Amino acid sequence: MTHPTRNPDFMISERLESEIARAATRVIGARSVVALTGAGLSVESGIPPFRGPGGLWTKYGEPPLDGYQRFLRDPKQAWQDRLSPREPWARALAETLGSAKPNAGHYALVELEALGRCDAVITQNIDDLHRQAGARELIEIHGNHKLLRCLGCVARFAPGELAIDPEALPPRCPRCGSVVKVDIVHFGEPIPADVLRRCHAVVERADCMLVVGTSATVYPAAEFPLEVLRRGGSVIEVNPEPSELSDLALLSLRGPAGAVLARLVELVSRARAGSVQ
Ligand code: APR
Repeated sequence: MTHPTRNPDFMISERLESEIARAATRVIGARSVVALTGAGLSVESGIPPFRGPGGLWTKYGEPPLDGYQRFLRDPKQAWQDRLSPREPWARALAETLGSAKPNAGHYALVELEALGRCDAVITQNIDDLHRQAGARELIEIHGNHKLLRCLGCVARFAPGELAIDPEALPPRCPRCGSVVKVDIVHFGEPIPADVLRRCHAVVERADCMLVVGTSATVYPAAEFPLEVLRRGGSVIEVNPEPSELSDLALLSLRGPAGAVLARLVELVSRARAGSVQ
């Protein structure tokens, strides 16, 4: 199966090539590697980031930080807004989410997992692209825009599993009768306990974290690389721009995730092939 190739416009400089080679050595030698991804990974799939140039919040302003409380106050209205978004940023995001496809960066992480060099991917992205790429050990810390979640028993429903009747909003859980919302974690909403438990379980084992396409400004996700560092582990950042983590990272690979991760995986798989001969 052919995968989208890395960005042809981006040339890997000699300096970046040698840094990617150092990153590959670190990844091969690590006890446990976990990847933390953000909106930057999906930029090459046509989904804008939130902050920085071309960011949704840069363009439309940050949404109110009490999205969850608003949902709880009036779930019917919140569902009507979901079914026909009024906010320009929500419309813009919905449009791109509908047509986006995984890029070379998503597939590279799947390959790294298949090589046994990535034990889990924690993503802040709600775009479902890691799943579509075939990620196995995937933790969607901010939820998934295609899934629904019961606020009572925390059951999740895949697309089509629960009929949404615009005349009978909000939808109710067929198991416990509680209100059902989209699985996306709104501003002001606690991360579901089961998701957080899974994050902590993989982070506490990791001694190397690949941090891809995130400004590392939103918690609790931004805490995970700091936890790895506190335990003497290392952070490898993939981001064309500096982030909150750049000063703490062992390596900052300055380039688009698609190109950089594809090259990293090439070097890791070649080294592993070499070591098995
Ligand atoms: N490859 C890698 N990184 C990129 C690319 C690219 N092609 N393009 C942009 N970036 C980087 C930017 O430099 C920036 O540091 O991706 C980062 C995106 O940062 P944010 O827009 O802040 O996104 P993220 O860190 O995922 O935001 C965290 O904030 O708004 C909430 O819930 C939302 O999950 C989101 C959270």
